[in-house]
Amino acid sequence: MADTIKLIAFAGSARKDSFNKKLVKLARLGAIAEGADVTYLDLKDLPMPLFDEDLEAENGLPKNVITFKTLLKEHQGFLISCPEYNSSITPLLKNAIDWASRPAPSEASLACFRGKTAALMATSPGALGGLRGLAPVRSILVSIGVFVIPDQKAIGFASQAFTEDGNLKDPEQNQAILGIGAKLAQITRKLNS
Ligand SMILES: Cc1cc2nc3c(=O)[nH]c(=O)nc-3n(C[C@H](O)[C@H](O)[C@H](O)COP(=O)(O)O)c2cc1C
Repeated sequence: MADTIKLIAFAGSARKDSFNKKLVKLARLGAIAEGADVTYLDLKDLPMPLFDEDLEAENGLPKNVITFKTLLKEHQGFLISCPEYNSSITPLLKNAIDWASRPAPSEASLACFRGKTAALMATSPGALGGLRGLAPVRSILVSIGVFVIPDQKAIGFASQAFTEDGNLKDPEQNQAILGIGAKLAQITRKLNS
């Protein structure tokens, strides 16, 4: 296999039993099968204050923001599972992106994002699976220099969708999520070769 590429996988939910954490862990397996090195991050482990420019001006970037930014910079692509809140992005995910978009002193603009790749997915207990929330996430990431691959998938009826061991009961859906992970790995490798 050509150079190993590094991806980071996370969900826009802090919830302990988050369906989106399960989904992104499944996509991670697809990327690993394609030869990628994939770090899983639980955003609950990196609590960040609500972004406030006064706070930033007084104290600089919080420690967990610096850790999150370092992780993003160490990876070439992002696998993100995005819960949908009121048809849009969750505050947790938006806040993390907003903080990471802020440069440390003497750091290049949008150093965590420019030239990176991303693949998006969602799941929710509703019929649409969080599909409507993916458009705003895509729009935000594209606007800060991320190449978001066209492939995306939303899985409805999340509370019945998963097996005990973290697969999707529906084989086609399971393959689609593994395939998104694999596709991100392939495209990221090509873009970085
Ligand atoms: C404030 C709020 C708004 C929500 N809005 C939507 C919505 O627009 N569409 C939807 O499918 N589910 C919505 N939900 C339900 C979430 O999809 C559900 O809580 C889901 O489990 C969240 O993802 P997680 O399991 O990864 O934490 C909402 C939940 C909350 C708390």
